[in-house]
Amino acid sequence: MEWVYIEDLKDHIGESVELRGWVWRSRSSGKISFINFRDGTGFVQVVVERSTIGDEKFKSVKKLPMETSLIIRGKVREEKRAPGGLEILAEDVEVVSTPIEPYPITKPDHGIDYLFDRRHLWLRSRRQFHILRLRDKVIRAIREFYWKRNFVLIDTPIFTGAIGEAAGNLFELDYFDYGKVYLAQTGQLYLEAAALAFGKVYNLGPTFRAEKSKTRRHLIEFWMNEAEVAYYEHEDNLKLQEDLVSYIVKYVLENGLEHLEFLKRDIKRLEKVEPPFPRITYTEAVKFLQKKGFDIEWGDDFGGDEETAIAEQFDKPVFVTHYPRKAKAFYMQPDPENPDVVLCDDLLAPEGYGEIIGASQRIHDYDLLVERIKEFNLPLEAYDWYLDLRKWGSVPHSGFGLGVERTIVWIAGLEHVREAIPFPRTLYRVHP
Ligand code: 4AD
Ligand code: MG
Repeated sequence: MEWVYIEDLKDHIGESVELRGWVWRSRSSGKISFINFRDGTGFVQVVVERSTIGDEKFKSVKKLPMETSLIIRGKVREEKRAPGGLEILAEDVEVVSTPIEPYPITKPDHGIDYLFDRRHLWLRSRRQFHILRLRDKVIRAIREFYWKRNFVLIDTPIFTGAIGEAAGNLFELDYFDYGKVYLAQTGQLYLEAAALAFGKVYNLGPTFRAEKSKTRRHLIEFWMNEAEVAYYEHEDNLKLQEDLVSYIVKYVLENGLEHLEFLKRDIKRLEKVEPPFPRITYTEAVKFLQKKGFDIEWGDDFGGDEETAIAEQFDKPVFVTHYPRKAKAFYMQPDPENPDVVLCDDLLAPEGYGEIIGASQRIHDYDLLVERIKEFNLPLEAYDWYLDLRKWGSVPHSGFGLGVERTIVWIAGLEHVREAIPFPRTLYRVHP
């Protein structure tokens, strides 16, 4: 008998097949029992009839506890009332292993800490099935977008000798005789080197921020996709970002609709996401916020509430551009028309999901970059190689970083980023 996965059952209607998986739930009467069965690719109802499998076998499988490992052989049949429209009529049930203790996750209303303490088991639940498969789709979309455009994947290092973003939230550690190194906050500086070697490049990997924030948007370890393109200026950069984000949303609508539907996502809102995205400058945004009664001065960075208020005016993601140079990182190119602001953007997702991308054109002038590194009190020695990029073959170049979990949270319509990653690291959690 052929071993098939639940996701492929529709191609086997009327056939007898073998399924390998686990009992999700089961209930039984004297003559018939129903097993809600999962195999990692989906869930299906299995009907076990005493008359089909015999008295003895029926007795032994009548009361199977949750998370019993099972191999089931049976016939695939259409059943309009079953979820998914298919069910299995069991011909044989083989127990592979029986739980040692009752399964601890039984009801939909366990508290969130209880569930995260059991994240290694909670992953088996339906909601997590849909969220993490959606994450997989988002990442497939990201990779496919760059493949189609012939970007080169450059895997950037996790141990770094120079501060990539901001001094305030670094994880420091001792690296043999070398002394202090940091966990990467970004791969950007390395991608800049790669862009001058390969033209258009991207990465996708974990990044680390020792942020004491407990908001629903912050993780300590999160995944970022960054892109960097030589000869790209601010305007080209915006275009690439809106193309990428629109591509991801479209891909998920086409390939992950069942997950969005399970999560009760308002699909109509996602269908609106296509280029061009609206833009406002930082200065316009501050004026708007002040009119709305926010206590904010030109020069301040935006918090979550400010971002939400700005994004609420639009039904697509919105670019906020030209932030004050003092509010942003050292490497950003000043606007030639107003050197107090830089050629950068934050892309804010609609519906209060906040910043999903941080982006900028980079300084390509050697002297200006030296000046900025000093101005930000960063050690020049650590940036020797980064400055070399401005000595030989320097050109305008631009790039961005997309927060993977924030993007998932927005697309899936979730409350909190911690559910968008298999094993979240937050201020209070590194276990499991
Ligand atoms: O805006 P950020 O800090 O930009 C950079 O790191 C640039 N060097 C990227 C580049 O230009 N190559 O971070 C980029 C994105 C943010 O927009 C946000 O989506 C996400 O990373 N992010 C976080 N996501 C979850 N938890 C955190 N603590 C995050 N910090 C940033
Ligand atoms: Mg940012």
